[in-house]
Amino acid sequence: MASRATQSELLEQRIAENASAQQIDLTTWIFDRVALRAHDRVLELCCGTGGQTLKILELLGEAGRVVALDVSQDALHTLTSKVVPANGPKLTPIEGSLDDFSRPLRNAGLQPPSFGLVFCAYGLYYSADACRTLEEARSWLNPGGRIVVVGPFGPNNKPLFDMLRASGVAIPEPVIASSERFMIETLLPWAARNFECISLHTMVNRVPWSAPERVLNYWQNTTFYDAEKRGVFENLLRRHFEQHGQFVNEKWVMLAEMTDARS
Ligand SMILES: C[S@@+](CC[C@H](N)C(=O)[O-])C[C@H]1O[C@@H](n2cnc3c(N)ncnc32)[C@H](O)[C@@H]1O
Repeated sequence: MASRATQSELLEQRIAENASAQQIDLTTWIFDRVALRAHDRVLELCCGTGGQTLKILELLGEAGRVVALDVSQDALHTLTSKVVPANGPKLTPIEGSLDDFSRPLRNAGLQPPSFGLVFCAYGLYYSADACRTLEEARSWLNPGGRIVVVGPFGPNNKPLFDMLRASGVAIPEPVIASSERFMIETLLPWAARNFECISLHTMVNRVPWSAPERVLNYWQNTTFYDAEKRGVFENLLRRHFEQHGQFVNEKWVMLAEMTDARS
């Protein structure tokens, strides 16, 4: 799971398949809820290929800054290749791990506290110890700063997982834990202990795929792909399309914004 989780070309394919079919644009939904000020200094963890970074850069003014950290150098290259020249000076890409991100930040000349916002979407569950990563994130917050974490929860991906299981695919336990339980069982208890105020937003994003190839391309770029079960899955999927004309996956999304850190 870990190595597929950091391959930027797989991430780009998954984003493309979701983005072209999802009913609600995820990035727009996030930043309609997370207000950014022109001069904000943002630390983004697990920035990937820029799914949210590009929008943050767009929303910041000239004085705003984004330090975007990811363990994958390839993802950072892809991100920087997408940044328009006017936004280049606002971005500092840093290669580093969630498990020890203060070191590369310090090596880049930064000192805590430096940020008004620490932001992480679809990545915190890759930390070996998410609570420790969150403590570290908190230590980088300016007074009055906030942490925003976005991720899946509950019946996320249920239509897809159900059909995969019916095809004999065993979804790995770390995938289920991150997809269904992480936000509720790990993130929220930590947030409640460490912040006075937590704002929660949720949405169910239907992703209607119009051809079997779209579903297969999404699956084969995930951390739960199983090449041996592809034939069985493909048969079930084609039968589903004959009956329904489309396959509708569901992304259950939670956004937690933590403000007023407890002393
Ligand atoms: C699912 S992607 C999300 C990327 C982006 N936030 C988005 O939503 O499009 C997860 C990202 O986390 C990165 N990642 C995985 N494990 C990591 C770790 N231990 N430390 C830092 N980044 C990690 C991967 O390289 C990948 O770019």
